[in-house]
Amino acid sequence: MVKMNLKEHDMFEPPEDFVKQANMNDPDIYQRAEEDFEGFWEKLAENVDWYNRWDNVLEWNPPYSKWFVGGRLNASYNCLDRHIEKRSDKIAILWEGETGDVQTYTYLELLDATSRFANALKGLGVKKGDIVSIYLPMIPEAVIAMLACARIGAPHSVVFSAFSADALAQRINDPASKYLITCDGYYRRGNVIEHKGKTDEGLDKAESIEKVVVVKHAGNDVTMQDGRDVWWHDIVESANISCEPEVMDSEDMLFLMYTSGTTGKPKGVVHTTGGYMVGTTVTANWVFDLKEDDIYWCTADVGWITGHSYIVYGPLSNGATVLMYEGAPDYPDKDKIWEIVEKHSVTIFYTAPTAVRMFMKWGSQWPGMHDLSTIRLIGSVGEPINPKAWLWYHETIGNGRCPLVDTWWQTETGMALLTPLPGITSLKPGSVTRPFPGVKVAVLDNAGNEVPRGEGGFLALLAPWPSMIRTVYKNEQRYLDTYWSKWGTGKYLSGDGARQDEDGYFWILGRVDDVIKVAGHRLGTMELESALVSHPSVAEAAVVGMSDEIKGEVIFCYVTPKLGAIESEELKDELSKYIVKMIGPIARPEGIIFADELPKTRSGKIMRRILKAIADGKEVGDITTLQNPEVVEILEKKVKEEVAH
Ligand code: PRX
Repeated sequence: MVKMNLKEHDMFEPPEDFVKQANMNDPDIYQRAEEDFEGFWEKLAENVDWYNRWDNVLEWNPPYSKWFVGGRLNASYNCLDRHIEKRSDKIAILWEGETGDVQTYTYLELLDATSRFANALKGLGVKKGDIVSIYLPMIPEAVIAMLACARIGAPHSVVFSAFSADALAQRINDPASKYLITCDGYYRRGNVIEHKGKTDEGLDKAESIEKVVVVKHAGNDVTMQDGRDVWWHDIVESANISCEPEVMDSEDMLFLMYTSGTTGKPKGVVHTTGGYMVGTTVTANWVFDLKEDDIYWCTADVGWITGHSYIVYGPLSNGATVLMYEGAPDYPDKDKIWEIVEKHSVTIFYTAPTAVRMFMKWGSQWPGMHDLSTIRLIGSVGEPINPKAWLWYHETIGNGRCPLVDTWWQTETGMALLTPLPGITSLKPGSVTRPFPGVKVAVLDNAGNEVPRGEGGFLALLAPWPSMIRTVYKNEQRYLDTYWSKWGTGKYLSGDGARQDEDGYFWILGRVDDVIKVAGHRLGTMELESALVSHPSVAEAAVVGMSDEIKGEVIFCYVTPKLGAIESEELKDELSKYIVKMIGPIARPEGIIFADELPKTRSGKIMRRILKAIADGKEVGDITTLQNPEVVEILEKKVKEEVAH
């Protein structure tokens, strides 16, 4: 094998031996999708098992889509039952705990565990259509719980386990869910995180919950509330091992996923069953090139969309072996990830650019300690990956020979939309390359016209795709306003900026709205601001994403204290802790400065663009429209001091 030393402007051609074996290696696929849009997706829908075939491939009444209309299926059947004949003893979940213990579930074992838990949920009163909240860390029960919900037609709403008690309450209250699945605790850097305690705190503010199922995982002491809390192991013990999957309509809700947007409240993105299963099954197959003997590892958390689509539904629907890891990447040491890769002979590795930049900073000696030669494909998701990190990842982890799939997508899109097909696409370091076949993407200006190649603009989707968001839960208006109001109902506003180069390759420039991406985690500036202003000492607050070499962006806060509040380091510390308590550790600010005044337009709107430029130490540009231009210089000085501090 010739090892290539790629440079920034080089192209990486798919290696011949990879192309030969690739699941998708026919370049005409793009053309075919173009010529017959519905026919293309219809053919792909055959990769999923249906009880009843659909009558229509698509009903598109912009901005509402229905896919595989009239089709009936069950997502858990597709992830489990249909593999039993061929793969009953194949490992579906290969779980490694932080303490080094390994648990495996074969497809048959996963089916049994899912069916038992599905029956246990029914026993608690869960019915088709009930929303079940899941607040679990990276343990196999998280996957089992999701699949059990899917099996009985109860949409799940998974809440990231590191979110705070308040954030949990908010995500339970919005859909008024009656059921919650949580655990006693889990391991993080050698400590046990008391998860049930945090859950209880959240439940004090979430009155709709009637039943709580608790997984015993870390064995720490917990308080169980009589009549409300039950142990997972108790209720599955007596549950029947067989549970017929519910026959679901293609457009029945499969799950809800809360994500941050431009207002204070996170929104419940609704995904339905048929289109989502088709989209994730096919992209997992073509983009990750999943094969029978692959050991596939996506390092995302099940609490995010990446975990839903590319730990659970996509890979399991393909009958893959999926690795899950409970702990931190640098505990007990910085080679932990590579130790796991070697130990389990991982072949496909999918992670976020922040992780790549962190690995790069730690140094090549850590991966160098282990045999990574089993890896044959690597991937990236969640934020733009800069060419330097791309090249390091390709060279050091991919050994200069593995295709690197940089996949652009969102909670709302459900599946990867801009992505290389590793057996076809020539790669450019830092580019997400091209749309998946059948996906129509463009870079538009404010008026909705395509911008010339080379120029930046808004990334838009011009046609529906099967796994697209159907609505915002109980908030139709927000669905319309957020995604379909800028240019009318046929063009989806992604919220990202992008540029297409002379070869038609797409380059993502980052968010252009009030969403920030901290280490790939999505947070709304308004959400952070409303947390800050709920503190008794804060009169006004503005939050921006400050550029960061490793994390992409970090949180920087400008706070106007209330009259009488003392501007001290102690108050900054308190505010930082407060925001973590309100949202979770991912929202910990990198810097806070006090500002008597914030830069505002004459109509009183805070100019975040200026605050971001100040935080980044950049030229602020035109400030003549401000009612108080003098504050800019004051803030610039304060930020310099804070950053040096
Ligand atoms: O800004 C884009 C960024 O992540 C946003 C979506 O965040 P979320 O809904 O949390 O889903 C993340 C996982 C799919 C996008 O609007 N993003 C995602 N993937 C990429 C990316 N930015 C650049 N390159 C990517 N590959």
